[in-house]
Amino acid sequence: MPDRIRRERTLVFLKPDGVQRGLVGEVVRRFENAGLKLVGMKMLRPNRKLLDRHYPNDSGFLTTIGGKTKDAFATYGLDVKKQTGTDDPQEIGRQVRGWLLEYVSSGPVVAFVLEGIHAVSVARKLVGDTLPFRAAPGTIRGDYSIDSPTVANLEKRPVRNLIHASGSTEEAGAEIPLWFEESELFEYERADARAMFGE
Ligand code: PPS
Repeated sequence: MPDRIRRERTLVFLKPDGVQRGLVGEVVRRFENAGLKLVGMKMLRPNRKLLDRHYPNDSGFLTTIGGKTKDAFATYGLDVKKQTGTDDPQEIGRQVRGWLLEYVSSGPVVAFVLEGIHAVSVARKLVGDTLPFRAAPGTIRGDYSIDSPTVANLEKRPVRNLIHASGSTEEAGAEIPLWFEESELFEYERADARAMFGE
């Protein structure tokens, strides 16, 4: 198996609501149980500079989150223009991004880097759908949250979805160095690697 797949890395952080609800241990347990290796971990309160780089203020990102939010409103027969003042996905995205940055910087988060076979997609599977009301039972978001953009955004607040996990290997490659110095990431073998992978 190529080393690049076996040693794939992903960035995860438990957002302020997850930390405040005492879910750090539970969440880390789930990733470790699945066979992912923790190679870096810290608590920090993310500042604006970090979040501006993590959630870029560019048209691609804004249109993606605005478009998804608009679709969610339409699905439930809600008038997005009446609620947000616009039906332009980029403008909706700008509002959502503002709430998102406020939420993620509102308290300490616990960030970690996980390593293992297909770490990016495995972590996303364990985390569940971005929108908690759609997240399957057994996933972190499905088991611990129920929030929805149609409720949250009507209340002029972001969806509280507990946790972030990189969406692709490219995203992981860009996000890890934003959050961790090389010296904060460690190499070691898990004692159960032999049983799991015959090493
Ligand atoms: S994902 O999971 O990366 O595919 O999510 P995406 O839909 O592209 O959204 C990017 C981030 O924006 C957050 N988001 C929202 N926050 C508040 N309100 C609404 N309506 C909303 N829509 C999207 C979403 O949680 C993603 O942040 P992270 O930190 O990845 O969860």
